[in-house]
Amino acid sequence: MNNRKEFIFPRRFFWGASTAAHQVEGGTTNDWSEWEKSEKRLKHLKKLKLIEQYGEDNFISGMGTGHYTRFDGDFKMAKEMGHNATRFSLEWSRIEPEEGKFNEKELEHYHDVIRSARRNGLEPFVTIWHWPIPLWLRDKGGWNSKDAPKYFARYAERVIGVLGGDVKFWITLNEPQVYTAESFLLGEWPPQKINPFSYLKVFHNLIKAHIAAYKIIKKKHPAAQIGIASHNMHFDASRRSLTGHIFKAAADWWWNFYFLGRISDYQDFIGLNHYFHKKMDHWWSKKEKEIFSDMGWRLHPESMYHVLMDLRRFGKPIYITENGLADAGDIKRPWFIVETLKQVHRAIENGVDVRGYLHWSLLDNFEWGEGFWPRFGLIEIDYRTLERKMRPSAHLYRDICLRNGVTEELVERYKNLL
Ligand code: FCB
Repeated sequence: MNNRKEFIFPRRFFWGASTAAHQVEGGTTNDWSEWEKSEKRLKHLKKLKLIEQYGEDNFISGMGTGHYTRFDGDFKMAKEMGHNATRFSLEWSRIEPEEGKFNEKELEHYHDVIRSARRNGLEPFVTIWHWPIPLWLRDKGGWNSKDAPKYFARYAERVIGVLGGDVKFWITLNEPQVYTAESFLLGEWPPQKINPFSYLKVFHNLIKAHIAAYKIIKKKHPAAQIGIASHNMHFDASRRSLTGHIFKAAADWWWNFYFLGRISDYQDFIGLNHYFHKKMDHWWSKKEKEIFSDMGWRLHPESMYHVLMDLRRFGKPIYITENGLADAGDIKRPWFIVETLKQVHRAIENGVDVRGYLHWSLLDNFEWGEGFWPRFGLIEIDYRTLERKMRPSAHLYRDICLRNGVTEELVERYKNLL
């Protein structure tokens, strides 16, 4: 494998990058935007001395990157960057700001976004829910409410009614595993309340919500392709100790496969968001050379191969809907992209039906609880002027997209970055 130089992907492979509404649009009013400014949140940040370190503005999503008005320019850049696909999310609080009252202008806005993507040669992968919820739903208990799946289905139905004819790929939910854990087990995200019962309840409500939305979309548009974006980690027990294996089996069962298994009859593809490599049996060993992102996430491209191989059990096509790193200096990103893609290629050669790779992210953005400081973008944002600039890795990735893979000539050309 190490001697291989050419890694050419299947024909019609989708190449692109992803965003999410609250992280890039700016000007959203939802449970997140209100929580960002709440006393409870600020107290927590002060306690951890994070305000001193990053400043208060870092933690307020505010104007984001201004993508709400600049989407067309951003998609033009994506086109220049060789992409043929893009993933973005709809903001529920814009579309249904009051319970049961839908804002036609906002739906039309997203129609424009989809048209702009298509004009720029980008196949849209549209996420219906990427975490924030409207305030009226928050006040009803959010995803804890027994009616939440019904509310979500009603919202999805309206969305499909307007946008259904123009979108083929729908992602109902983003990372139910991460949302539930951060919000209800760790208490780090709104509603910032640790409660294992809520954790399980919300988790199961999200399963119901997905299935209800799936049925609605399929009924109206049988050719639509529908899935979720699942956050799968590589639980690595490569040293084969018994305890490592037991931990790995439990973690795989619950974190990686439970949700996907419960919806397996109601998904046409698997959206894979992959970031993490977790050592299950050798975390005490410090001997290996390790590389970390600016956020301290271990960068381990080979993990991609393992999570993809593990997803074969579902027998569905896979689109990688997120994968990336915070790297302000763009020092590790070029290497990370190339090495990860080699692992995707290796999985394809081993029979995994991978049909697309969407890097996280198209733009620098508001990284949830961490705020603006982590830099995930292929495109760098100057937050004072909202000016956009392609990072060197965006050029490298463009050439990969245009060549439909990693070639020897390309590696040679970019060797200074790699
Ligand atoms: C994922 C989220 C995405 C982004 C990346 C870094 O878990 O889906 O919105 O924050 O992490």
